[in-house]
Amino acid sequence: RVPDPGVVVIFGASGDLTSRKLVPALYELASQRRLPMEIAVVGLSRTEMSHEEFRKKLRETLEEHVSGGVSDDVWDSFAGGIFYLPGDSKKPETYEELKGFLKKLDEERGTQGNRAFYLSTSPSLVPTIVERLGEAGMNEGENGGWSRLVIEKPFGRDLGSAKELNEEIRRHFDEGQIYRIDHYLGKETVQNILALRFANGIFEPIWNQHYVDHVQITVAEDIGVGTRGAFYEEAGALRDIVQNHVMQVLCLTAMEPPVSFDAESLREEKVKVLKAVRPIPDEEADDYAVRGQYTRGWVFGEEVIGYREEENVDPDSVTETFVGLRLFVDNWRWAGVPFFLRAGKRMPKKATEVAIQFHSSPHTPFAHDDTEGLEPNVLVVRVQPEEGLSLKIGAKVPGSGFEVSSVNMDLLYGTAFLEEAPDAYQRLLLDLMLGDPTLFIRADEAEGAWRILDPVMRHWARKKEVSPYPAGTWGPEDADALLERDGREWRRP
Ligand code: BG6
Repeated sequence: RVPDPGVVVIFGASGDLTSRKLVPALYELASQRRLPMEIAVVGLSRTEMSHEEFRKKLRETLEEHVSGGVSDDVWDSFAGGIFYLPGDSKKPETYEELKGFLKKLDEERGTQGNRAFYLSTSPSLVPTIVERLGEAGMNEGENGGWSRLVIEKPFGRDLGSAKELNEEIRRHFDEGQIYRIDHYLGKETVQNILALRFANGIFEPIWNQHYVDHVQITVAEDIGVGTRGAFYEEAGALRDIVQNHVMQVLCLTAMEPPVSFDAESLREEKVKVLKAVRPIPDEEADDYAVRGQYTRGWVFGEEVIGYREEENVDPDSVTETFVGLRLFVDNWRWAGVPFFLRAGKRMPKKATEVAIQFHSSPHTPFAHDDTEGLEPNVLVVRVQPEEGLSLKIGAKVPGSGFEVSSVNMDLLYGTAFLEEAPDAYQRLLLDLMLGDPTLFIRADEAEGAWRILDPVMRHWARKKEVSPYPAGTWGPEDADALLERDGREWRRP
């Protein structure tokens, strides 16, 4: 299906998301002819720039961000639909000007009154922009067209502010017009968690407390905060990654089978998981959550600075760059099964995975010495890199005795499908233009995730401490203790 004609208006267009992700994704879609010819992109931010300068700026970095190289022909025709408006997003005049400009595009480029407003700005500007759009009547498309609003995480700073934000937005836009974006849901391998579970008959029967010992979800990055120190000081890993990406992966892993793959059925099931997560008592939060921060260390043989030495970071900062969580999903399926979640920067490598560890076999008839290399079965969904699946199974070691040991059965999606997975933003922008919110976050999901994390944030705010870990390691010692308490240990992805 090809979407309707329309305009994507990007607020905060001089930011790097536009040149790194949004425009490359739209370019790729255009080059695959997944977009109609009557698509326009309007960038808006305070910097003075002409349409031509904006196009030139985007073209300069495009090569770095698209996979198959840039074709001049495709770019020329795509760039003809890229425009730029300088303006202050706080001022009503900007919206009058924008409105006039969009009407002109409808006439000249046939964009048919359809608009998607992509808010790639600082979160503090979101309520104002939404209000101004509403006041200018742009919460409805022109001449019967549609109007959609895209919001980037973080969706608030905690439960209270998330609710407030949702209320503010809904004063001007209906929930059905709001597309809260979490790029993890656009990743093929994240979607593959659903394919694995619900396109196969063999996994669902064992996907529960009878067979599963515990679950580990890891979002590890080798990079530090780099130039994003100021942002990170405000956010921290809990708000930056756990509230959204990690919670989404948890939902897809733990949810019940949806009746169908439509937006409401899928999101309904995710919300049920969030509701079932056992509330963390503030005063016992240390038994459930660990807060870590990287210090100077070595990553891939290179010495790197500690978080407190990074640019725009307070030298006494207690902001976390690592979070470890121990959660329980209190429902029939998962009663008693711990879910261990961790996300961190400056880990030994980039690795995002979901590992389902099963109970050991109830009885091994082999001699004790022969089973030393045997570990419980683990099914790992590797989200990135080396996207694929692996199942750890016990097998006989070749030889005359009966020694058994664990080996991995591996599937690499790249080899199985011989195709490169498209970037997450491609999928999500296409769904946005098609009006399909299935892979976007509903208000109650965002609030449900905050409800789980609020007690942890309150506890940390009082405690004002963070556990150090050297860059290039798997997090602070307390993170190991979090699992040892339940007699388990973290995997090394
Ligand atoms: C972003 C976070 O949402 O996700 C970043 O703001 C993080 O801090 C990034 O680096 C990770 O995304 P990916 O796709 O590289 O796993």
